[in-house]
Amino acid sequence: MKILILGGDGYLGWPTAMFFSNRGYDVTVVDNYFRRNACTELDVGMLYPVPTLVERAKIWHELTGNEIKVVIGDLTDPEVMRSLFTGIVEYSWALDRGFAGIPETVIHYAEQPSAPYSMINYKYANITIKNNLLVTNNLMFALRDFSRDTHVIHIGTMGEYGTPNIDIEEGWLEIEHKGRKDKFLFPRQASSLYHTTKVMDTDLMWFGVRMWGLGITDLMQGPVYGMETKDSVIDKQLRTLFNYDEIFGTILNRFIVQAVVDYPLTVYGKGGQTRGYLNINDTLQCIHMAEKTPAQKGELRIFNQIMETFSANDLADKVQRVGKKMGYDVKINHIENPRKEAEEHYYNPTYQGLIEIGVEPNYLTDEVLAGMLQVAEEYKSNIRKDVIFKGIKW
Ligand SMILES: NC(=O)c1ccc[n+]([C@@H]2O[C@H](COP(=O)([O-])OP(=O)(O)OC[C@H]3O[C@@H](n4cnc5c(N)ncnc54)[C@H](O)[C@@H]3O)[C@@H](O)[C@H]2O)c1
Repeated sequence: MKILILGGDGYLGWPTAMFFSNRGYDVTVVDNYFRRNACTELDVGMLYPVPTLVERAKIWHELTGNEIKVVIGDLTDPEVMRSLFTGIVEYSWALDRGFAGIPETVIHYAEQPSAPYSMINYKYANITIKNNLLVTNNLMFALRDFSRDTHVIHIGTMGEYGTPNIDIEEGWLEIEHKGRKDKFLFPRQASSLYHTTKVMDTDLMWFGVRMWGLGITDLMQGPVYGMETKDSVIDKQLRTLFNYDEIFGTILNRFIVQAVVDYPLTVYGKGGQTRGYLNINDTLQCIHMAEKTPAQKGELRIFNQIMETFSANDLADKVQRVGKKMGYDVKINHIENPRKEAEEHYYNPTYQGLIEIGVEPNYLTDEVLAGMLQVAEEYKSNIRKDVIFKGIKW
């Protein structure tokens, strides 16, 4: 089975590449280092240095004998995207530079993934809109023109739904209106421009499904935590990139690092903001199960990809409790909320679909938190307090 991973250098992309490579798939990854370049430009913090994508593919090959083919290219360029399906692709590293063949599955991660980044100012909002929509649209047209049988797995976000005062269904809602019924995409009301691009991605993909009969799974994912996966434990150089700053660090990842350097955990406002979360190992499981049971042609299948829900206060309390047991002086600081969001609200999403196709959740236990604190401790001397909170306002 051939798998193409768009955004293969990223926080989720690289662990996904190792996961499938270890299981006998023929894996190609594509990336243009957007994320790393943005981190350099904005001077944000990564917990430890990470070898380049080509270097990582070589280390992976030396340690496991498995090959991950690498393409360095910008997927907003339609010719780069199309080359991955026509065979005129330029590999930056591969044992055999011959065309890997049309992929059975494309995993699409290649987007600007940060809400605060998209809200810095009009420039970063435009970069986000342009980057995310062009990559998705280029993918839709490449599939239309060269491979309508390829299954796409896209990572959407639970943030597409916002925090409505009704239960959140898995993507779709049946509506009865004036005595007639129909099924529509669940109402979306994103709370950042980044999340708005994800809503638009879903619309572009739904268009591709209706017009060209494509088969797409859109996984509405919550914030992910963790840095180590079962495939990365063989060598520290294989650990995925890990941000702890306000722009690219997701909440729990940030809190873990803050705890280690006695930086009070920054809870925005009242801290009642409730979201669904998942362990990075569960992202891999979900993608694997979605790949094994593909969407039908002409189907946009949507799952809510979360394993449990917590408020910001719940997360802060957990990190404080486990941190204290390990000897850290963890304080919690409720600061003025830089975002426009409800700080107390109803939140009841459905998330059964992935369990039904075989995913077995890894929950956020004290042991998991302690493991993350231990890794952060290893790199304590790298941690820069000045990048943890900058206060990007909505
Ligand atoms: N990490 C999370 O908690 C989370 C939660 C919900 C949804 N998601 C979604 O999952 C996906 C992956 O997230 P992530 O955390 O791994 O982000 P990431 O930034 O680490 O990974 C995205 C990768 O795509 C690459 N990329 C971006 N634009 C590109 C382009 N034009 N051409 C080639 N490569 C490009 C980046 O360089 C990066 O390596 C994103 O779509 C994100 O919106 C992530």
